[in-house]
Amino acid sequence: MRSHGCGELDKKEIGKEVVLTGWTHRRRDHGGLIFIDLRDMTGTIQIVFSPEADASTHSLAHALRNEYVLYVKGMVRKRPDGTENPSIPSGDIEVVADELKILNTSKPLPFMIEDDSDASESLRLRYRYLDMRRPVIQKNILLRHDVTRIVRDYLNEKAFLEIETPMLTKSTPEGARDYLVPSRVNPGQFYALPQSPQLFKQILMVAGLERYYQIARCFRDEDLRADRQPEFTQIDMEMSFVTPEDIMGLIEGMMKRLLSDVMDKPLDIPFKRFTYQEVIDRFGSDKPDIRFALELKDVGDIVKDSSFKVFLDTLSEGGMVKGINAKGLAGYSRKDIDMLTEEVKGFGAKGLAWIRVKQGFESPIAKFFPEQTLNAIADRLEARDGDILLFIADRPEVVTEALGRLRLELGRRLNLIRHDEFNFAWITDFPLLEWNDEEGRLQAMHHPFTSPVDEDIEKLFSINTSELRNPKSELSSVKAKAYDIVLNGYEIGGGSIRIHSTDIQKRMFEILNISDEDAQRKFGFLLEALEYGAPPHGGIALGLDRLVMILAGADSIRDVIAFPKTQKAVCPLSNAPSSVTDKQLRELHIKLDILTE
Ligand code: AMO
Ligand code: AMP
Repeated sequence: MRSHGCGELDKKEIGKEVVLTGWTHRRRDHGGLIFIDLRDMTGTIQIVFSPEADASTHSLAHALRNEYVLYVKGMVRKRPDGTENPSIPSGDIEVVADELKILNTSKPLPFMIEDDSDASESLRLRYRYLDMRRPVIQKNILLRHDVTRIVRDYLNEKAFLEIETPMLTKSTPEGARDYLVPSRVNPGQFYALPQSPQLFKQILMVAGLERYYQIARCFRDEDLRADRQPEFTQIDMEMSFVTPEDIMGLIEGMMKRLLSDVMDKPLDIPFKRFTYQEVIDRFGSDKPDIRFALELKDVGDIVKDSSFKVFLDTLSEGGMVKGINAKGLAGYSRKDIDMLTEEVKGFGAKGLAWIRVKQGFESPIAKFFPEQTLNAIADRLEARDGDILLFIADRPEVVTEALGRLRLELGRRLNLIRHDEFNFAWITDFPLLEWNDEEGRLQAMHHPFTSPVDEDIEKLFSINTSELRNPKSELSSVKAKAYDIVLNGYEIGGGSIRIHSTDIQKRMFEILNISDEDAQRKFGFLLEALEYGAPPHGGIALGLDRLVMILAGADSIRDVIAFPKTQKAVCPLSNAPSSVTDKQLRELHIKLDILTE
């Protein structure tokens, strides 16, 4: 229908007749002259209707309202001096219309189509088709398309096969609750939507397909946050005959290509690598934001030479005392620190001890510390005059969590985060098992198909399974062949080398307290497949939504998903989930009896 996109016109077209289509973005009706900004996916251009150019077109233009859909024919001309708009690419020119067709009208809008919309998110999601007309969202959707396209190109070049795996399937244990789908033809039976394609991609390796990928939809019923949706997309991969190095190298190459092609940014590879223990110790997180320093320092060995009861009691109970140098908080008053204290209590800490370094040491607890000890603390935290040192004493998990979150908070408050940076890192040497406090037992840290490192297999078999109820068990030192990739403080992916021997897989289930019967019922098909010449294999999955969110500079993955769900897992556009008819339920052999707790 058209000769150009609105945003494609520039000075070169001056003097040419063009045909444009699009939406009425803004209009200014000066009676004599009528101006509109016409918008399509490529951008906007100013259209002028004047009685001199064409009287009937001009009179029709009085009827235009926001978001009317138009067909405009006209001549491109240079804007009169002084009326240029440098804020848009086509700001030097305009189109004088001599023909106008209104292709469609629009009801008055629930909110304005503009980048800085002040409409609430629920209203925007209810009218997502209007929301997506906003150039910011279109830019994100475009970026997502580019990322997916480049990932496909990259993997296709490397001889990966794109293979789809079932959506109506069995539970895949990735640690969340399943979404279930009742089967009509098998009364009382349910499919689970996949939490990931994990089991099927391993079976593809047993099938000899060697290099698999899929832009895969995953479903997890879990608490939602800005970086979590109930359905999300993974760039999912699996390979046979590989080492962790191969997989990390593949992903580094992919990220380098993405940054160069979509962001026009160079990227240094290989990425930095940290062991799990190292990032927990230094940053208090297994997905550290390393765009800034502000590291955690253990001062347990120093503060034992004090008489501060809180610290001494914590240490004697096997706890730890760690501190952080909040450089730049020099201007903070006691009241400000009290507010920080309240904040860390929200992170699980019992309190926040502080020492201000200022030609000496100023602190309500200084009196409990000999001068020498204070100096040693200041040394450990590399304190300079004016710094405030903050300490938390507690069980190691509590200190890590609270101080790790305080570190992030200070990073934000003190403007330490280098926002133009894409800081990737690998986290390796994860423990195979982690302590679950609620259940009082060790459980798989990743999924139960993750291989232990070769040196620890012996330990896995020799140890008594009653050890699983002991948080200090030798078993907690067993390491996994697992790796996570972290970008700017987000876990954007994770993977592992898998167990390819039935014996080790069975032992793993034993250790995880999954009975033979249960294992057979849930993953029997995988266990059986492993018995028919399964090759060594491994893989990784990247969270596409999170990756695109970070590349787009967005705050939430909802901004990079065309039709996202709210915090309550609702789609305000379609109103899903919703009730179904009795007939549908009867067909599914289901009778509802809603239990309220
Ligand atoms: P994992 O569970 O770590 O691994 O998931 C991989 C990546 O997917 C992203 N992700 C999510 N993104 C948005 N919303 C969610 N609810 C959500 N949950 C996870 C994260 C995460 O790093 N099968 C394994 C991979 C493997 O071992 O190969 C798996 O699914 O960015
Ligand atoms: P108190 O002796 O309870 O008045 O505490 C003295 C100081 O120690 C206060 O600044 C508290 O916030 C701080 N504090 C208390 N418990 C802890 C803890 N577990 N870790 C760090 N500081 C603490």
